[in-house]
Amino acid sequence: MNIKVKLILLILAYNVDGWVWQCEQNNNCVRTEKSPNYTYPSINTCRLACGSFRSLWPQPTGKVALSQELELIDIRDLQIVINAQGDAVQYLDKVSDYFKELLNMEKTNCDIEAKKLKIVLISTSSDVNLLWKTDESYSLKIETDNEIKATITGPTVFGVRHGLETLSQLVTKYKISEQKSCLVTLKNGKINDTPAYAHRGLLIDTARNYQSLSTIKRHIDGMASSKMNVLHWHITDSQSFPLVSTRIPNMSNYGAYSEKQTYSPEDVKDLMDYALIRGVRVILELDAPAHVGSGWEWGPEAGLGNLGVCIHQQPWRSYCIQPPCGQLNPMNPNVYKVLELLYQDFVDLNPNADMFHMGGDEVFIPCWNSTNEITDSLKDRSEKAFLDLWASFQQKALDKYDKVRNNHKTNLILWTSHLTNPAYIESYLPKDRYIIQTWVPQEDELPKELLKLGYKLIISTKNKWYLDHGFWGTTPYYNWRAVYNNIILRGEGVLGGEVCMWGELVDNQNVLQRTWPRAAAAAERLWSDPSTTSEQAENRFFTHRDRLLFRGINAEAVVPKWCSQNEGKCNSYLP
Ligand SMILES: *[C@@H]1O[C@H](CO)[C@@H](O)[C@H](O)[C@H]1NC(C)=O
Ligand SMILES: *[C@@H]1O[C@H](CO)[C@@H](O)[C@H](O)[C@H]1NC(C)=O
Ligand SMILES: *[C@@H]1O[C@H](CO)[C@@H](O)[C@H](O)[C@H]1NC(C)=O
Repeated sequence: MNIKVKLILLILAYNVDGWVWQCEQNNNCVRTEKSPNYTYPSINTCRLACGSFRSLWPQPTGKVALSQELELIDIRDLQIVINAQGDAVQYLDKVSDYFKELLNMEKTNCDIEAKKLKIVLISTSSDVNLLWKTDESYSLKIETDNEIKATITGPTVFGVRHGLETLSQLVTKYKISEQKSCLVTLKNGKINDTPAYAHRGLLIDTARNYQSLSTIKRHIDGMASSKMNVLHWHITDSQSFPLVSTRIPNMSNYGAYSEKQTYSPEDVKDLMDYALIRGVRVILELDAPAHVGSGWEWGPEAGLGNLGVCIHQQPWRSYCIQPPCGQLNPMNPNVYKVLELLYQDFVDLNPNADMFHMGGDEVFIPCWNSTNEITDSLKDRSEKAFLDLWASFQQKALDKYDKVRNNHKTNLILWTSHLTNPAYIESYLPKDRYIIQTWVPQEDELPKELLKLGYKLIISTKNKWYLDHGFWGTTPYYNWRAVYNNIILRGEGVLGGEVCMWGELVDNQNVLQRTWPRAAAAAERLWSDPSTTSEQAENRFFTHRDRLLFRGINAEAVVPKWCSQNEGKCNSYLP
């Protein structure tokens, strides 16, 4: 390390009033009173130099070698060089702007000797489609001589983006005096990193309760900060249909809570662009044939017959699992015509999607069984007859989707349900078309059995990763440790997992707090799949929670501040 800079740091920082931090056992940053041999003027600066993964979240999976020495950055002299081709150049330009925004959020006033930061971004591929099979790995190298040079290399722009996110987590503010502060980073470092799972998702549900575009953007910011890459948008349900369909305006005219509580195609596309720059793709879900109702009422008046049955029917307990009731009418051919138009709208929103979510959960047989229009055409009323009916609905829906996509053979996702029972899933759902999203408890064998049958899986462990639990019925709350420690199935067919923030009891007022920082705990499980537990992660996690707050995501508190200011001193205090 440059002796002169070190001297300046120590002498000037010594003059700052209040607490300082030292790194104990190269692991814990602990607050201490000003003393001649303290090391860091803030916990963030301490975290930059303390511990094998510093404050990186999620922890890298490859080789990590980071210096303990710090270098002051002259942020007025920041240079970003892009070494890429075609669309990748523009993409990396936008990612660079985002990175600069992050750095500029730290207000600094640095007029002492500091070094130029030069960042070189190298992407091998020019492709800017983020797909399930996209290689998101990257390597980052920081070297310092008369300038600080950070080189980020990736096979795709998405890997390079993750590398910039990592670099942003290795830059923090260094307070020199009340008036003066600079940005600071590591003098040297090398990181190789690649995600353990390809699919690292967060489900949001904007049908039970509406969430504003700015709230959804904050979710995406949280995901970008934690290297999650799939926003699964459960955009419709029986309660409301807020998506404005270009081809069938009646859906949201009837189904939205209000004219304002809607998402226009432009809104959705804007969000998708916003997400892509942050390394996140949006997978839209049109849940069917259950979880419909609001928005599907207008069929008879339009001369199309009943598109849905049991819609808003009472007493609801006899016709559905959750009010208000409604299921599509599989006997009405017009249902498939409407679905085709809706699918066309969904495809227009994202013509390059390699996945679409068709829902497919919680068909409530007593609804169909109470509808003469349906039972009259069934040969019998056994459970098997209803499952066959459901499967034939699914096949017809699939045919429509494939037609709209010119037989592109998009991967379709379905929730586990009666149809995915390992005893007969193979007769209902072809495994080359369907990815199954499991939502059973951790101890359930279903994911293993489906994997053995050759299905690809996305795992949403119900009793760990349902972030809505803990506020209704007897469901318990899963704290960040439970979320973190949820080891999911490993294997080639396991694409990854999703944490789910179902929307019954959340809206703009509380959804960010309830989702964050717990979703970030799942993010590290999915990116790093660490063999260690939350205990080894907590120092970094507490800092990451502060990072989320700093970036505008109202992440809830997970520990009294004293514990995060005195790492390692609250062991086993909170479960
Ligand atoms: C300062 O360093 C000395 C010796 O290196 C050590 O004994 C002392 O505990 C340190 N003080 C603090 C506050 O860590
Ligand atoms: C929309 O619903 C109304 C009934 O309110 C119906 O008359 C009309 O035909 C529907 N529009 C379309 C395009 O289906
Ligand atoms: C459907 O309703 C009929 C008449 O109530 C009943 O006998 C039959 O068991 C029901 N089928 C199912 C699968 O519940």
